[in-house]
Amino acid sequence: MQHDFHNVDISKTRFLITGGAGFIGSNLVAYLVEHKAGHVRILDNLLTGNLENIQPFLSAANVEFIKEDIRDYSACLKACEGIDYVSHQAALGSVPRSVKDPIATHSINATGFLNVLAAAKEQKVKRFVYASSSSVYGDHPVLPKREQETGNPLSPYAVSKKTNELYAAVFAKTYGMEIIGLRYFNVFGPNQSPEGAYAAVIPLFMHAALSKNAPFIDGDGEQTRDFTFVENAVQANIRAFFATNPDATNQIYNVAVGERLSINEIYSMITGLAGSDVKAIHRESRAGDIRDSLADISKAEKLLGYTPTVKALEGLRRTFEWFTQSAR
Ligand SMILES: NC(=O)c1ccc[n+]([C@@H]2O[C@H](COP(=O)([O-])OP(=O)(O)OC[C@H]3O[C@@H](n4cnc5c(N)ncnc54)[C@H](O)[C@@H]3O)[C@@H](O)[C@H]2O)c1
Repeated sequence: MQHDFHNVDISKTRFLITGGAGFIGSNLVAYLVEHKAGHVRILDNLLTGNLENIQPFLSAANVEFIKEDIRDYSACLKACEGIDYVSHQAALGSVPRSVKDPIATHSINATGFLNVLAAAKEQKVKRFVYASSSSVYGDHPVLPKREQETGNPLSPYAVSKKTNELYAAVFAKTYGMEIIGLRYFNVFGPNQSPEGAYAAVIPLFMHAALSKNAPFIDGDGEQTRDFTFVENAVQANIRAFFATNPDATNQIYNVAVGERLSINEIYSMITGLAGSDVKAIHRESRAGDIRDSLADISKAEKLLGYTPTVKALEGLRRTFEWFTQSAR
């Protein structure tokens, strides 16, 4: 059971979580189900998500799964019918994947986003919360990253997330919608897949540590990230749904912890947890990657009441426990 991040009655409230079978979406679904939300509708085409992530909830009377694609506007329109709050998590993640296939990234992340947003407007949802990304900071050199200062995007993925933010601002102004964007910084935790060519670094390292294999580290491993345990990302979504301060809506927020760790440090924490002494193999740096990333989270703290409850090491412990259990 996760911490409580809301103090309103949600027993009659209806939520749509797109990408709800994915990593972050399924953790958000778990929170809503555990807190007895009125209705939780999950839209996912299972492209990178996994039904197993939501299996425990599928038999619940208040949970509905629809296998549809956000590239289909009529499916989005149906999915938004009767919904109070949307959290839009569906997207094709990964910077390298977007470098390899910019068209797929655009059609899901930009056009698909517009479909869900337009459907939410059409169905008059109360509030639309969506996943943006720290990648929109691009080549802006200053640390920590503050919401109002962004640089040029460095990948098609970053362009797609920047596009989301531009559409969100226009829809809020033009149609009077309440919209909140969440710029996640390297989220990790249970349900994050170690599978496939585009898996994130923490699940890859955990998988390698458990199987005593040497993982790859891109470049020298001294690049840093603001690693964010998924419960903090769930908290940001919940706070964004229910923030009552009128200044809190139609804004974009960093969602992170406000501390940075290098890839080498993360690897040594994970091998420490696993009791492994396998050395990682260093290889070429990746195209489109940024060197350092660290968030200023004061805006989310002030306007949303967001406070990260789980720091990196505790998050790694919980994630490792989950990996160990699911590997059995
Ligand atoms: N994980 C991170 O560190 C991170 C960082 C920044 C931003 N984000 C963003 O957060 C969101 C969630 O990411 P995640 O890490 O949970 O990824 P994920 O791949 O686990 O989840 C994305 C989900 O969207 C679904 N999906 C993909 N294309 C779809 C389509 N066309 N129609 C319907 N469903 C579709 C997938 O099947 C999957 O279940 C994404 O928008 C991602 O870009 C994630």
